[in-house]
Amino acid sequence: MQERNLALELVRVTEAASIACARSMGQGKPNYSDQLAVNAMRAAFDNMHISGTVVIGEGERDEAPMLYIGEEVGRRAERDPEMDIALDPLEGTNLCAYGRPGALSVIAMAPKGCFLNAPDIYMNKVAAGPYGRGVIDITKTPTQNLALIAEAKGVEIEDLTAIALDRPRHEKLISEIRGAGARIRLIEDGDVDAAIATCKPDSGIDILFGIGGAPEGVLAAAALQCMGGDVQGKLMFYNDEERQRAYDVMGEDADIEAVLSCEDLAHGEVLFAATGVTSGGMLDGVRFTAGGCRTHSLVMRSKSGTVRTIDAVHDFEQKPHYTLDGFHQKMDKID
Ligand code: FBP
Repeated sequence: MQERNLALELVRVTEAASIACARSMGQGKPNYSDQLAVNAMRAAFDNMHISGTVVIGEGERDEAPMLYIGEEVGRRAERDPEMDIALDPLEGTNLCAYGRPGALSVIAMAPKGCFLNAPDIYMNKVAAGPYGRGVIDITKTPTQNLALIAEAKGVEIEDLTAIALDRPRHEKLISEIRGAGARIRLIEDGDVDAAIATCKPDSGIDILFGIGGAPEGVLAAAALQCMGGDVQGKLMFYNDEERQRAYDVMGEDADIEAVLSCEDLAHGEVLFAATGVTSGGMLDGVRFTAGGCRTHSLVMRSKSGTVRTIDAVHDFEQKPHYTLDGFHQKMDKID
């Protein structure tokens, strides 16, 4: 199967996860929303013509029953290509559970060894669109990075918009960005979506700063490799246990303090798909209609640089597992 066909297969998997968890939007049950997405994504993988291994997933085998790190997914027929998979069935769990914008279902896929085996800890990140490729530098201050982006874009710092997670840990960062004169967009969750926004000229977002999940850093790098943007990361350790976790997944010889480039996080021929769960700046969420629903997805390949948005109309008569009855059956199996 050609890699470009695989990209289109991949989007079916994010669509399935999005449709399943979108039913629970606003119900105030984050674990339940997540479980719906996980179950649907896991089942949809069975139809993919790959021998896939999850490298960024729902957690370690003993803490996640499905889509755990190391789990083998896909049809796994003899000639199916071996692929590594980074996924988040519901990126922005709380956004879905509390009915807020910007929740996504996300998967990146690449040949073996192309994704960093990132531990499930925090990572400091800076990300920017094509203007910032080779320009951003996480070892420099946010003010210096803003000046570099402003120069590359040919605008003043005051014309730039930075995006960051609204967290107490970002108090100093936010005050520095304000001091530098840039505009700020603060988000409740979802820094993969925010990193992608830096690459979309109509998003009005120029640069992402701040600390979020390390696995999300790999997903963001996969997306930005396809879109010509750039991201750098540095793992953040708050205790020795987190350091050990990093050695456990990255290897005893790994330089866990290193600045991680976009290439370190994700390289090679990367495929990326995301489907909106709740409507955000980039993608519309799932909209249910009489007898069906519509989904809005992004599908990209780093090799061609093609960025496709897919507006899909799903007919539930052909897909009974997506109907309300199908949903209630799934619901009964989840606490
Ligand atoms: P989940 O979907 O796993 O809840 O992640 C949402 C998210 O906002 C990520 O986008 C981000 O990287 C991370 O959480 C930030 O972590 P925290 O909420 O602990 O600040």
